[in-house]
Amino acid sequence: MRIYAHRGCSGTYPENTLAAFKAAAELPITGVEIDVHLTKDREIVVIHDEKVNRTTDGKGYIKDMTLSEVRKLDAGSWFSEEFAGEKIPTLDEVFDVFEKTNHRLNIELKTDVFPYEGLVDKVLEAAEKRGFLHRVLISSFNHEDIQTVSRKKSVESAILTLDVYVDVYDYARVVGTDRIHMSLPGAFRRMATDALRKGAIVYVYTVNKLEYAQQLQQIGIHGIFTDFPEKMLAELDSP
Ligand code: G3P
Ligand code: CA
Repeated sequence: MRIYAHRGCSGTYPENTLAAFKAAAELPITGVEIDVHLTKDREIVVIHDEKVNRTTDGKGYIKDMTLSEVRKLDAGSWFSEEFAGEKIPTLDEVFDVFEKTNHRLNIELKTDVFPYEGLVDKVLEAAEKRGFLHRVLISSFNHEDIQTVSRKKSVESAILTLDVYVDVYDYARVVGTDRIHMSLPGAFRRMATDALRKGAIVYVYTVNKLEYAQQLQQIGIHGIFTDFPEKMLAELDSP
């Protein structure tokens, strides 16, 4: 079962910061998951929420701020004073961290609240320019964007699901992918085993308890996103 560091090693470092990504880059895991948004001046930045309020010392929406305004924010102190001064990274800076490793990058397009016109193309162009196209896996709750990705390039893509879907694999195929990233409660429902039987590649988020990871491994889930990849590596039998 593949292990992805969810928002970097976000259980032990502030999520979606270079500190969290550098820690993940040191681990023998498959990859790292990151969340991307677009600033007012159309730069790709890595943060989970639409607003900066929860994870920085600032307030407001990313879409209303320029990159230079975003870069002034402290994205580490909310987690611990030890990380004071961590910035909201750009996508390019995350590519820098993984330039010399073999990790895969799951880039989640956060286009389900604001559509961020052009983000799909910008992310694919940035990945291609940096030679990361073969190492990225694009996911989103915005399945229209995943349909666009699946049609455009030979790049891996996945639908993210939150609610329960019947025939989720058939739905994913219509979108244009055989990859489904489903929530933990969904993974224990029949739709997960049905999808696996039909040939889906199923990853599950966010799995922080060892016993859940073990159960998912037993039912044949292909990968997990966890805030504690170090712990999963140490405690899962042959991850
Ligand atoms: O990509 C899996 C997971 O990150 C999706 O949910 O809210 O953590 O971005 P969220
Ligand atoms: Ca995410």
